[in-house]
Amino acid sequence: MNHFSRRSILLGGLGLGAAALAGCTPAGPTGGRESSSSAPVPSLAVPTPGQRVVEQTLTARPVTLDLGGSQVATWAYGDSAPGAVIRATAGEFVRVTVDNQLPADTSIHWHGIRLPNAADGVPGMTQDPIRTGEKFVYGFTATDPGTYFFHPHVGVQLDRGLYAPLVIDDPREPGAYDAEWIVTLDDWVDGTGRTPDDVLNELIEAGGSAGSGGMGGMDHGSHGAGETQQPWGDAGDVTYPFFLVNGRVPTSPETFTAKAGQRVRLRIINAASDTIFTVALGGHVLTITHTDGYPVVPQETGALFIGMGERYDAVVTLGDGVFPLVARPFGKATGGQGLALIRTGAGSAPGPDVTPTELTGTALIGSELRPDESARLPSRTADATAQVTLEGSMSPYRWGINGAPFGENEPLTVRAGERLRLNVMNMTMMTHPLHLHGHTFALASGLRKDTVLLAPMQSMPIELDADNAGNWALHCHNIYHAEAGMMIGLQYVT
Ligand code: C2O
Ligand code: CU
Repeated sequence: MNHFSRRSILLGGLGLGAAALAGCTPAGPTGGRESSSSAPVPSLAVPTPGQRVVEQTLTARPVTLDLGGSQVATWAYGDSAPGAVIRATAGEFVRVTVDNQLPADTSIHWHGIRLPNAADGVPGMTQDPIRTGEKFVYGFTATDPGTYFFHPHVGVQLDRGLYAPLVIDDPREPGAYDAEWIVTLDDWVDGTGRTPDDVLNELIEAGGSAGSGGMGGMDHGSHGAGETQQPWGDAGDVTYPFFLVNGRVPTSPETFTAKAGQRVRLRIINAASDTIFTVALGGHVLTITHTDGYPVVPQETGALFIGMGERYDAVVTLGDGVFPLVARPFGKATGGQGLALIRTGAGSAPGPDVTPTELTGTALIGSELRPDESARLPSRTADATAQVTLEGSMSPYRWGINGAPFGENEPLTVRAGERLRLNVMNMTMMTHPLHLHGHTFALASGLRKDTVLLAPMQSMPIELDADNAGNWALHCHNIYHAEAGMMIGLQYVT
């Protein structure tokens, strides 16, 4: 798949000067992240004199984890899944040494971070894989505040325990809340008799090899004898025994404690590989304030959909008692749900299968949020337009973009400085969370995202400013789809 020349990889990260190693300039009264596109990404992999450095070592290794009663053999960063949060303030330099003690190649991708191409963590595109026993140092300036996470970009390793939150604090934000909790969601199979690699092989085998001609657009394969499920149709391929919140099964949930009346900021991250969740907090209204790091016009809702790779920040004022924070997998009949508890007072804890009434109401679709003004791209007409057609089938198990799987499809191209419009069309009967590396894009409403859910047969124009030279990936964040080909390159050309 290595159709990127070594030369272009080397040049990729060097296209923009060091001029803009700026750090941050004051934002508007909303305290939103600095708008918008055109501040070039610093390309140096070393801190500037005086820049504060956040330094970490991550050891990726086989471990046995306790999910809350179930022991699983898996791969993780350190001793837990999710791994420990990495936290920096916008403008600081993040330097992470990865020590690969796995019996396999690995890498780390800093999901959602606008960083130099050489730190993006995609073997074959931006670096060589980190071999067993090797170390690799990632370095980048964390320019944009927000809620992010990181994970390998090798095979289906994301579906092991190899993920952790990454939070970039906004030095200008007033922080109008009393506490902040990170809520990381996952679907779990590793060490329960199957590994994610087994799961991928099962999907490929179940798909058979017959009729492997083109990318069959309409096949939704072995899914759904049942009624159509709104709004996402067939949303996943894999049957999971567990759904986790912060690495815990619902019979042994994490319990957050606070005082009644306190305001809490939730940073919700969907690190699952094949599961869209509906999230609700029993007895409460969530006020959504950010998605994928960018501020939105605050929107109240009882429940919220979150696709793989998406992040939402919500603020909530807590009532008095014990409340379930539920992550219900969309369209999956087995495996239960994800659960955490919030305790502010006396009362008995709800059980693992609790259904808050908020879950039975309408859930917010994130792409319908409105952007905060500070999050808009400058108004401008597109210089170039490209088509991005999502295709594939369950049988054969083969997914692609623009007519072929990754490696056989033609990379998209863009010139530095252009406004690029992508007309994305989902020509399948499944939902796909589309994720772009190194950039964020604007929906027609102006909403800024780096990962967006496309429902079956949905079309969506998105626009981006080509302000970060390199070779980047655009792919479905269902890791099985991505690994089966639903990915395409975005290459800067001159
Ligand atoms: Cu979170 Cu290319 O991925
Ligand atoms: Cu997909």
